[in-house]
Amino acid sequence: MSKPNEVAVQRRWDWEYPIIARADGIYLWDTEGRRYIDGSGGSSVVTGIGHGVKEIPAAMAKQAEEYSFYPAHVFSNAKLLELADLMADIAPGDLRNNCKIWMTVTGSESTDDAARLARQYWVERGEVSKHIIISRWQAFHGDNIFSVSMSGLTTRRRMYTPMFRDMPKIPPAFCYRCPYEKTFPSCKLLCARALEDAICQAGPENVAAFIAEPVVGSALAAYAAPEGYFQIIREICDRYDVLLIVDEVMTALGRTGKMWGVEHWNVTPDIMAMSKSMTCGYYPVGAVLGRNSIWETLRQNDAHFRAGHTLNASAVGMAAAIETIKYIQNHDLVENARVVGGYFLEQLQGLLAYDTIGDVRGKGMMVGFEFVTDKRTKEPFLPQQQVSRLFSEITFRRGLVSYPCAGTVRGVAGDTILMAPPLITTREQIDEIMTILHASMQEFEAGLSRNS
Ligand SMILES: Cc1ncc(COP(=O)(O)O)c(C=O)c1O
Repeated sequence: MSKPNEVAVQRRWDWEYPIIARADGIYLWDTEGRRYIDGSGGSSVVTGIGHGVKEIPAAMAKQAEEYSFYPAHVFSNAKLLELADLMADIAPGDLRNNCKIWMTVTGSESTDDAARLARQYWVERGEVSKHIIISRWQAFHGDNIFSVSMSGLTTRRRMYTPMFRDMPKIPPAFCYRCPYEKTFPSCKLLCARALEDAICQAGPENVAAFIAEPVVGSALAAYAAPEGYFQIIREICDRYDVLLIVDEVMTALGRTGKMWGVEHWNVTPDIMAMSKSMTCGYYPVGAVLGRNSIWETLRQNDAHFRAGHTLNASAVGMAAAIETIKYIQNHDLVENARVVGGYFLEQLQGLLAYDTIGDVRGKGMMVGFEFVTDKRTKEPFLPQQQVSRLFSEITFRRGLVSYPCAGTVRGVAGDTILMAPPLITTREQIDEIMTILHASMQEFEAGLSRNS
């Protein structure tokens, strides 16, 4: 074990981090030889193709031997062009081969650049007042200052609010704790219609875009909007000339059992932000994919995109992404996520037998469950009890990495666990995960009754 509080600043001060030694498939080993299942796909929802896929480092090494870094203000690189073509070929709906792709390094940079693209598009069209990006509460779009401002994750944004100009947020599509206390479908999807109110209140002439995750990741632990939600959102965006940005940082490239999360609603966005699954953690790469007409507006004005960082579109990263996407396609991992993920969700229903589990949910290989003190009233645990963190520590001691989340209730209470093992996971491995989850639930509830 490494000692905490030494020179490298890690995520927690109070956790004795084991040192990771190696990883293969869905398993990780520490330097003491202990084996763990990568049940949340890293931290989190990253490792789609699993660990130790030799093709990826081989492609990266080959590229690095030819050249690693180059002056990108005067050169292009062949891998960048190849990757962009590959992604355009698999883009959803009418974006397919009708888009352009801008490379980034992280997910936060992708959502930030997606917002910038929306803003610059309207400026280039002469509609300079359009600058507001509407988003949702209980959403996460990243951790740099602008993306955290779009995020509706109270605990992560609150300290920084004096540093940004806040923009409107609408309630999440969260039927389990419906913000309007209604039931689907008789609710008529008020949560989607709230976008129209927000646009009109801000003035459509001021609104550039609306951003949402198709399946909410760390803020709601794999919660998918009901059928019809994104269709209404798309229609409202079109009516008021507002661009639809979909944050696919967690859901892209098969995670939810379709190539893109938004395809579950048969809706095509104008701009998509992505990152994690583009290289499944083998190298930091992200991207912003936008409708061709948006980028053409910039081009026609001879206006280059006002964004960009030194390490964008690194040739080594591009090589890793090409190989990763091909691996996902050649191994039919989207289908495996759909089928085995469906099995996972079925098995997860078994957790509802415990007194403290109020809901299980998910799509494909991205599932989650929520803790309550009372199933009927859905009363959450107190935030200071840190229930999701405690539970996640139990699974970790039992050899399963799970991802603790909180904030489903007004952004402060409401504990959940997000599970997103690699897309290669088999049914037998899901059974292995479920055995640990059941044992952990028993230990967790026994601990609660001892302390009550
Ligand atoms: C939906 C979503 N958007 C954006 C991000 C930010 O990505 P990154 O951590 O790579 O900056 C995340 C990270 O978890 C995310 O889940």
